[in-house]
Amino acid sequence: MRDKKRVTDYHCHILPGIDDGAETLESALLMARLFHKAGYREIYCTSHLIKGRYEASSSEILDARNQLQSELDREQINIKLLLGREHYIDEFLLDNLRQPLLLEDTNLFLIEIPPFIAVELVKEILFQVTCRGYVPLIAHPERSNLLELPTPEKDNTKFWNFWSNQKSPIKNHQSKMPPNLLTYLQDIGCQFQANLGSFHGLYGKNIQNKAKSFEQASIYTHLGTDAHNPDHLKQILNIT
Ligand SMILES: [Fe+2]
Repeated sequence: MRDKKRVTDYHCHILPGIDDGAETLESALLMARLFHKAGYREIYCTSHLIKGRYEASSSEILDARNQLQSELDREQINIKLLLGREHYIDEFLLDNLRQPLLLEDTNLFLIEIPPFIAVELVKEILFQVTCRGYVPLIAHPERSNLLELPTPEKDNTKFWNFWSNQKSPIKNHQSKMPPNLLTYLQDIGCQFQANLGSFHGLYGKNIQNKAKSFEQASIYTHLGTDAHNPDHLKQILNIT
């Protein structure tokens, strides 16, 4: 998965001066040169959209993309910049679904799950995203403490099977057990974007192990760098 999709970065904060990504045009150009050298030819510009923190409008994103693309063309850096946005699950998200900035030429809605949020709210909002005809692309699920591979112990499957076999009055509870969140998101059609740096321990050993287990379980559909500046990108790409 990692090698096949290397020419496209599905998650990047390269647009200068929009969020906590590249601060200047020079930084963005340096990132673009590093990307090109590493073999990338397409980059989705997925600046944060978080109410109260990063609120650039879609037209501002479009302008920033066009300006940076012009600079790349002028510098003869052969990379195509594509529009996108990294959305955030909060109470304002459903408002953003009226005219969302999807990943360009797709129906993918890149979205980050915050660390402290009720599982039921995540389910409800992402279900609503799918009801609008969009496909939630979950950003770096390996970094979310809410997402784990299902295990029999955690799903209590053995427990409920036991009671079912005992003809217990609660036997029907097995079918009512809420599924693991990751399983639920797969079931409603979500896709999942790995952060490249997770695989070599950029966020610590636990996340590295989780990323590898997700990869083994074929959870991932897309790969991104989630790079925010040139030094960060060098760490992600493992280059000096
Ligand atoms: Fe990001």
